[in-house]
Amino acid sequence: MLILFSVELSHEGDGFATRVIDLGGLQVTQISTFNKVWSTHDGGLDNKGATIFEPKNIPKGFYMLGSYSQPNNKALYGWVLVAKDVSSNTTDPTLKQPSDYALLWDTQYMNISQEGHAYVWLPIAPNGYKAVGHVVTTTPDKPSLDKIRCVREDLTDQSEQHSLIWSKDHFFFVYDVRPSNRGIEAPGVRVGTFVAQTDETTTNLSISCLKNINANKTSSMPNLQQIDAIMEFYSPFLVLHPNEEFYPSSVNWFFSNGALLYTKGQESAPIIIKPNGTNLPQGGENDGAYWIDLPTDGENKDRVSKGFLNSSRSYLHVKPMYGSTFTDLALWIFYPYNGAAKAKLQFIKNIKLGKIGEHVGDWEHVTLRVSNFNGQLWKMYFSQHNKGTWLDASQLEFNVGNKPNAYSSLHGHASYPHAGLTLLGKGGVGARDDTEQSDFVFNMGAYELISAKYLGSTVIEPPWLNFNREWGPHIYYDLGKKLKKMRHLLPGKLKSLIDDIVKVLPKEVLGEEGPMGPKGKNNWSGDEV
Ligand SMILES: *[C@@H]1O[C@H](CO)[C@@H](O)[C@H](O)[C@H]1NC(C)=O
Ligand SMILES: *[C@@H]1O[C@H](CO)[C@@H](O)[C@H](O)[C@H]1NC(C)=O
Ligand SMILES: *[C@@H]1O[C@H](CO)[C@@H](O)[C@H](O)[C@H]1NC(C)=O
Ligand SMILES: *[C@@H]1O[C@H](CO)[C@@H](O)[C@H](O)[C@H]1NC(C)=O
Ligand SMILES: *[C@@H]1O[C@H](CO)[C@@H](O)[C@H](O)[C@H]1NC(C)=O
Ligand SMILES: *[C@@H]1O[C@H](CO)[C@@H](O)[C@H](O)[C@H]1NC(C)=O
Ligand SMILES: *[C@@H]1O[C@H](CO)[C@@H](O)[C@H](O)[C@H]1NC(C)=O
Repeated sequence: MLILFSVELSHEGDGFATRVIDLGGLQVTQISTFNKVWSTHDGGLDNKGATIFEPKNIPKGFYMLGSYSQPNNKALYGWVLVAKDVSSNTTDPTLKQPSDYALLWDTQYMNISQEGHAYVWLPIAPNGYKAVGHVVTTTPDKPSLDKIRCVREDLTDQSEQHSLIWSKDHFFFVYDVRPSNRGIEAPGVRVGTFVAQTDETTTNLSISCLKNINANKTSSMPNLQQIDAIMEFYSPFLVLHPNEEFYPSSVNWFFSNGALLYTKGQESAPIIIKPNGTNLPQGGENDGAYWIDLPTDGENKDRVSKGFLNSSRSYLHVKPMYGSTFTDLALWIFYPYNGAAKAKLQFIKNIKLGKIGEHVGDWEHVTLRVSNFNGQLWKMYFSQHNKGTWLDASQLEFNVGNKPNAYSSLHGHASYPHAGLTLLGKGGVGARDDTEQSDFVFNMGAYELISAKYLGSTVIEPPWLNFNREWGPHIYYDLGKKLKKMRHLLPGKLKSLIDDIVKVLPKEVLGEEGPMGPKGKNNWSGDEV
């Protein structure tokens, strides 16, 4: 399904998609072929158990840093890094054998369905070195010291436990490990290994992650041609709801069709916004001194609020992630208007919430996370009401070739990987995010690169990106009044449920948070949240 295109790209750029990345005297490469070590069919996600693997076909001169593990509720899809010392530092090489191993736990006496028994070992690192992964054996004998390598401390960074891979009996926990500090500037490198522990949570993991200390670390990032190649290969399709009334548009369409800039204290004299927003105030705080709004005359206001799909662009922000071993391509979409929310109250499937949720200026995004080792799409992020979800590339729905679908929810424009209803709430009560297949599809390959700091002055940010105020006026709902009215209309038992809706509605839906531009949303300079 996913075709390697690194072969075509490797000769074009500097360090992108050349398989090996130099973290500073330490070369690493990504391995995704494995030997199975052990498996259980009990416990963990969906009670399907988990499997532990070791990297196989490790290139000459490279060493294993740790084993890989994955829950059994999804197809095998992952990678670990293996490393090679290229420091020519004889006293303190970047890699060293462990001095010993400590047995963390074994599964010998566990009442689970398992293939053999697992013995999970923590490498004891020599002074000045850290373990970045575990060794797992199927016998109680200590593994050979040559089995794995520990990493010189200056090439390691603080890690944290991330998603649960497996747990059993409140005593055995296996988590995916990632760098604690993530974001454009953060040097922490994800190794792809797991941490095994006996506590549900620990703040100080026994396993570190790697750190990119190469002064020239952005050489592993894609150049302009490679960004274009990635987009050509993986750019998603945005599927709007068949009943959608508020389509996306380009920013310039919005501006040139009458969008207005308001200044506090001069509300009666808004000004026309110039193309690219060249007359928008730059920088500053979101202090309410300025805001953008639709045109004032009724007919134009209505027309502009509906957007214009044909004019749409995806606005691309490219940023290094995990110490420049991955590239995040955040694709931002602009909708002039966000329509009203709808709710579900158990068997009452579709309740209109009046004007709740409506606002001018709606910025949404999806993010492609691409490996700088081989140019492959690893994960995709779907933003939903200031939060979102990550999916492995193997879990995505593809439109044509390697281009994934992203479904935009009716009116609210949250993005989802599959069509269907998502209820923001619980017990059958909450706000509805409806997505559905339709003919209204936007090819996000029509993009404009708006920011890529690592490329220096090559990419000039459009002025509208540095407009730090809101893209719509503040809206205040008389929520109490609205709910009282709704309570009246509902049958007895359901009256009290109305209050539950308010509790589960995302802040953004309630309009309490203003419609900020891309830089004001989660999370421009950091990892997705
Ligand atoms: C950075 O890396 C690129 C590509 O590997 C190379 O062309 C360039 O000379 C390097 N710059 C420095 C300062 O090492
Ligand atoms: C070897 O690495 C250590 C630790 O980073 C450093 O202090 C030392 O200067 C290095 N030696 C050489 C010869 O590069
Ligand atoms: C082992 O687990 C099975 C199924 O969960 C249970 O029926 C059985 O009683 C357990 N045996 C012991 C010795 O705990
Ligand atoms: C975390 O563990 C390391 C050794 O594994 C130790 O040096 C450090 O002091 C610990 N930090 C905290 C906050 O416990
Ligand atoms: C907007 O800016 C881009 C460069 O960022 C430029 O190519 C384009 O011509 C500008 N559009 C207008 C209408 O000024
Ligand atoms: C939008 O684009 C499509 C295909 O490019 C075209 O058929 C259609 O007429 C356009 N619609 C408008 C309103 O321009
Ligand atoms: C966004 O990322 C930055 C930089 O990594 C981080 O400091 C900040 O806490 C993140 N914001 C959220 C809401 O997680």
